[in-house]
Amino acid sequence: MADFHGEDIAMSPSQCNLDDRIVVDDTVLKTVGHNPYYLSVSSDLGDPVTVEGRSYINLASNNYLGLANDARLKDAYIGAIRRYGVSMCATPIAGGYTDLFDAVQQSLSSFIGVERVLVYPSCTQANNGIFSALAKKSDVIIFDRCAHASLIQGIRAVGCRAYPFSHNDVDCLQYVLSRAQDHVRMFVVTESVFSTEGSIAPFRKIYDLCMSTGAVPVVDDSHGIGVIGSHGRGILEYSGIENYQGVYTASLGKAFANNCGVVGGSHSLIDYLRYFSANLVYSTAVAPCVLAGVLQTIKIVEQEFPTLARKLYSYHAVIKKTLRESGYDIVDSSAPINSIKAGSTEETIAVAKKLFDNGIFSTPFVFPSVPKREGRVRLIAGANLRESTIERAVRIFRELGES
Ligand SMILES: Cc1ncc(COP(=O)(O)O)c(C=O)c1O
Repeated sequence: MADFHGEDIAMSPSQCNLDDRIVVDDTVLKTVGHNPYYLSVSSDLGDPVTVEGRSYINLASNNYLGLANDARLKDAYIGAIRRYGVSMCATPIAGGYTDLFDAVQQSLSSFIGVERVLVYPSCTQANNGIFSALAKKSDVIIFDRCAHASLIQGIRAVGCRAYPFSHNDVDCLQYVLSRAQDHVRMFVVTESVFSTEGSIAPFRKIYDLCMSTGAVPVVDDSHGIGVIGSHGRGILEYSGIENYQGVYTASLGKAFANNCGVVGGSHSLIDYLRYFSANLVYSTAVAPCVLAGVLQTIKIVEQEFPTLARKLYSYHAVIKKTLRESGYDIVDSSAPINSIKAGSTEETIAVAKKLFDNGIFSTPFVFPSVPKREGRVRLIAGANLRESTIERAVRIFRELGES
């Protein structure tokens, strides 16, 4: 069975019609009879969520703390729109950021545990852009083999030597570092929480290894911020790292329930990127309401993380136990993410369909988002879900597991 992918068909010079090379092979979707991508959601991310006109238990969003529909966040957005309007209509270097950015800069950098931050339109833009700004062709970049596509794209764009290390394997990293000769600078790239596996990087060890070998650590904390660490501050808090000497990135569109990305680090790093990171310099500034939202989220997380995290982690544990007892092959996750090992693209879409047909909205990951035949169906139960909803999900998983 062919994988679900875009065809890249070789053409003779006379065939310059673009339509010939942008064919989507959707055989698998047709065979399974389900397309789980770009579904139409017509409600907020509440409990339930309305997808394609039907109600579902939402286990498909990264709405870990359940803040996407929080009234205080909505008010923060609306208040900022009233005061600042809806867009900056210019790049931040040209048209400024609004004074909200000074407050975000202060709160967010101390929340994460870095000297300074920059707010990008998205973490994809940040990850795509930082390597081109910071690395040279004579450098070497070593990355976890499960690192997010946006990091890999950013690394590849530099054109320098780039080597993967086995997932979360510090010994392998040490070996690759020891073999990386003739470089000007070494970068080591990992995520904090790997979102398709629910695994957490041994970042303290990776960081110490970087410090002892002179490599620059780069960590993407998209699924860690608002999720791990005793106060939800993410990977630096979780790993007990102070005075962080490296590059930090995160999406604030997951637990933080906003729409932007962040890069954090030293004063000199941030000052440099402000002028030399093309993805920041040439892209329209993040809307003021998003900055107001980030400030509000920090306040909520600072006050309510223990309560929200208790729910999030207990829902994760209940679903994990149920899946195990019902015979599902799942990844042994530490973060509040459950992932069913589904196998091929066809099997993965089929698992998602079965859940969807029974009222559960999940996220199937297939190649190239995960390695071939390592398809995953991801389930994240946010803190906004009612306990009765989790009980219903448990019943559904049991029934489907037994059937
Ligand atoms: C690990 C990781 N990094 C980066 C991103 C991209 O974040 P954003 O949506 O802010 O572009 C994602 C989103 O899927 C992610 O999971």
